[in-house]
Amino acid sequence: MHQIAIDRKTLVGRDFIETLDWTVEEIEEALAVAGELKTAFKNGEPHRLLADKTLFMLFLDKSTRTRNAFESGMTQLGGHAIYLDAEKTQVAHGESPKDMGVVLSRYGHGLAIRHDLAPYEGNVWMREIARWADIPLINLQCDVDHPTQTLADLMTLREKRGENLQGMRVAVSWAYAPSYAKPLSVPQGLATLLPRFGVDLVIAHPHGFELMPEVMERAESAAAEGGARITYVHDMDEAFRDADVVYPKSWGRIEAFRDEKAALAESGAFKDWICDARRMSLAKADALYMHCLPADRGNEVTDEVIDGPQSVVYDEAENRMHTGKALMALTMGGYGL
Ligand code: CP
Repeated sequence: MHQIAIDRKTLVGRDFIETLDWTVEEIEEALAVAGELKTAFKNGEPHRLLADKTLFMLFLDKSTRTRNAFESGMTQLGGHAIYLDAEKTQVAHGESPKDMGVVLSRYGHGLAIRHDLAPYEGNVWMREIARWADIPLINLQCDVDHPTQTLADLMTLREKRGENLQGMRVAVSWAYAPSYAKPLSVPQGLATLLPRFGVDLVIAHPHGFELMPEVMERAESAAAEGGARITYVHDMDEAFRDADVVYPKSWGRIEAFRDEKAALAESGAFKDWICDARRMSLAKADALYMHCLPADRGNEVTDEVIDGPQSVVYDEAENRMHTGKALMALTMGGYGL
C-alpha cells in the first residue's frame, strides 16, 4: 500500500515543466493521486476537486490525446479548461511571455502549454512564462520533455509489471516515420524519468539522430542516482534483444527541424527501422510494446504488433487523463490551500 511520503499541499502552485523538476517522492505522490482518481472515475464517484477553477491550455502544435485528456479531466474535476492556440491569441503577434503569464494569472488558476516543434525554443519560452505567472504551469510537451506522457507511461509500466521496476530493460528506439519530423521530447523524457525508478534504458538510433546532449547528460546523472544505466546502440535489433519493454518511435534530426522536407528525406534512408513481429521476437517473450501515439502504422510499427497482445498503447493513452488530473489537482489546490 502507498505510504503518503509528502504533504500534498506542498505541491500547490508548483510548475511541472520537466519530471526532473520534481523529486522521486513528489512523482510517487502524483502517481498515487492518479491511481485514486482512476478508481474514482471507474466507479463513477464524483471528485470535483477543482470546482470553479480554470485551466488555460495553449497549443502551438496539434494534439489528440493531450488536449482531450486534460480538457475532459478538468471537467471531471469540476473546473473548466479553455483551449487556446497561437493563431487565435496575440502569441501570433509576438505578445511577450511576461504579459501573457501575468494577465492569465489574473483570470484563472493554471496554465498548460505545448510548444514542441522547434529545438531550443519551447522549454525556454514556457519557463519564461512560468517565471512571470503566479499560477502553476504544466508542460504539455516541449522540445526537451513530454512529462505528462512519461508520467502516464510510468503509471502503465507499474500497472503491468508491479511497483518495483529495478533492473527492467526498456529499449527506446528510433523508428522510421514519413508523416512529420517528430520532437525528441518523448525519448528524452523517458531517459530523464524511467532510470530514476530503476529502469535500465537502451537507446537506439541511426547515426545523426542523436538526442540533445545536455539533456542526456542530465538523464545519465539522474540514472546514476536511481541505480540504473543508460546505454546507446545504433542497431534496432541489438536494442530489442532480451528487452522487457520496447518503445520504438520516430524523431527528427535536431539540425534539420527547420526544414521538414529535408528531415523526412534523410529519415527515408532508414525505412527498415520498423517494429515488426520478427523484431518483437528478439525481445523477451512477454515484452510490452509501448508508443505514445500517434503512431505511423506500417512505418514505425506493423498493425500486427500495435494491435497485438503485447501492445499497451491504449492503456498509456488512457493513463494520460488520470495522470493529467493528478497533476492539475495537486498543483491547482485540489487538496487544500
Ligand atoms: N501522445 C501525445 O502527446 O498525443 P497527442 O499529440 O495527440 O497529444
